[in-house]
Amino acid sequence: MADKAKLDLGDKVIELPIVEGSEGEKAIDISRLRAETGFITLDNGFVNTGSCMSGVTFLNGEKGILRYRGYPIEQLAESSNFLEVSWLLYYGELPSSTEMVNFKKKVSSFSKLPEGIEKLVDTFPKTAHPMGVLSCATAALSAYYEDFLGPQPTKEDKDVLFAQLLGQLKVIVSRFYRKSQGLDLIASNPELDYCSDFLMMMFGEADADVAKALDVLLILHADHEQNCSASTVRVVGSSHANIFSTISGGIDALWGQLHGGANQAVLEMLDEITTEGGDAAKALEKAKDKEDPFKLMGFGHRVYKNFDPRAKIIKVACDTVLEKLKVNDPLLNIAKGLEEQALKDEYFVKRKLYPNVDFYSGIIYKALGIPTNMFTAMFVLGRLPGWLSQWKELREDTSAKICRPRQIYTGATERNYKKLDER
Ligand code: ACO
Repeated sequence: MADKAKLDLGDKVIELPIVEGSEGEKAIDISRLRAETGFITLDNGFVNTGSCMSGVTFLNGEKGILRYRGYPIEQLAESSNFLEVSWLLYYGELPSSTEMVNFKKKVSSFSKLPEGIEKLVDTFPKTAHPMGVLSCATAALSAYYEDFLGPQPTKEDKDVLFAQLLGQLKVIVSRFYRKSQGLDLIASNPELDYCSDFLMMMFGEADADVAKALDVLLILHADHEQNCSASTVRVVGSSHANIFSTISGGIDALWGQLHGGANQAVLEMLDEITTEGGDAAKALEKAKDKEDPFKLMGFGHRVYKNFDPRAKIIKVACDTVLEKLKVNDPLLNIAKGLEEQALKDEYFVKRKLYPNVDFYSGIIYKALGIPTNMFTAMFVLGRLPGWLSQWKELREDTSAKICRPRQIYTGATERNYKKLDER
C-alpha cells in the first residue's frame, strides 16, 4: 500500500502521509493541510476523525473487539478485577502483587473527603440529580488540593491523583446516596475490595457474587477509547486545566442520554412501556417513526456495528445478580422482548443497531437497589480510570496541542450596526 495519499484540488495536487496503527488502522495525516492548501476538513460529529494517537484501548466495531492495553475485555472481565484493570489502563502493564497491594492501600487512604466537600455534598437537595452533584463536587476538590493546580503535574502528582480520585469519587457517590435517602453514613472499610466496600457504604451489606457482578460491570465500562466523554476530558485537559475540572467535564459529557445517560433512559423507557401495557412492538414502531424523536434507548452505537462485546458479558452478570438477589423483574422480560423483536426488524438490521452496554446495566443497578437517577453516576465510577488514563497519555505526549477545531462559517456576512432608534 502507498505511504502517501494524493489530494487533487484541481489547480494543485498534494501528498498527505498515511499513518498506520499497531492493529492496521489507517489514517490520512492532514496536519499540514490548511497550511499547504488553505482547506480544512469538515466532519460533523468527528465520525471519520482521529483526534490523537493512543495506546490505551483498541476497539474494532465491525468485529466486536475491545481490548485494554492489548488484553481482551472477555479475559479481563473473567479473571481480573476493577482496581487491577484501572492500574493496567493507567500504567500500561499489569501490576505486580506488591504494586497491587500498595495501590489498593493508596486508594483506600482516600476514603475521606475534605470537610468542605462533605458539607457541599450534604447541602444539595435530596432530589438533586447525582450527576450534577458529582460533577460539582469533583470540580470543587480543586479548592482543597491547590498543589495539583499547576499546569505541569509531576509523575508523583499523577500517581497520587489517580488513587485519590478513584477513592474519593466512590465516597462522594455513596455519601450523596445515603444523605438523599435520609440514612446514616457508613464508613469505608479498607479491608474490603473496591466493589464490596462501595456496596457496604451504600447498603450496609455486600454479597460476594453481587460485588463480583458489579466489579465486572465497572471493568466493562472502564475505557472506550475516544468516546464523547473521553474526548471531552482530552479537550479540557489540552488547555492544561487541572485534573479536577478536567474530570468534572468528562462527568458532564457522560450525563447526556445519547452517552452514559442512556442507562437511566433505558430504565425509564422500559418503565413507560410497562405502564402503557407492555407492548414492545409499539415502542419499536415509535423508534422507527422519523417524525417521532423517540429512539430505542440502549440500542445503537457509533462504532459497534455488529454487536457490543460488553453487552454479551453484561447479560451473564445480569442473570447472576437477578438470580442471587431473587429478583423477578418484569422489566427484564420487556427488555428481552424488545431485543428479540428489534434484532429481527428490518429497520434495526439494516442500520446495524444492536443492544449496547447500557441496555442491561440499568437492570443490574435496579436489582441492586440503586435509584434510577443514580445509574449514570455508577458509570462514572467505572469510566474514571479510562478518563484518567486518556488524560495521562495526553499530558505525557510532547506533541499534544491545545484542541481547537475550525469551522465552516455559514452566518451573516459583514454588515453595519444600527442603533435602536434606527432599526
Ligand atoms: N433507535 C432508533 N433509531 C436509531 C437508534 C435508536 N436507538 N440509533 C440510531 N438510529 C438510527 C438513526 O435514526 C439513523 O437512521 P437514518 O439512517 O434513517 O437517519 C441511523 O440509525 C444511524 O444513526 P446515527 O444517529 O446516525 O448514529 P450515531 O453513530 O450518530 O449515533 C448513538 C449513535 C448516539 C449511540 C445512537 O445510536 C443513539 O442515539 N442510541 C440511543 C442512545 C444510547 O443508547 N446511547 C448509548 C450509547 S453507548 C454509550 O455511550 C455508553
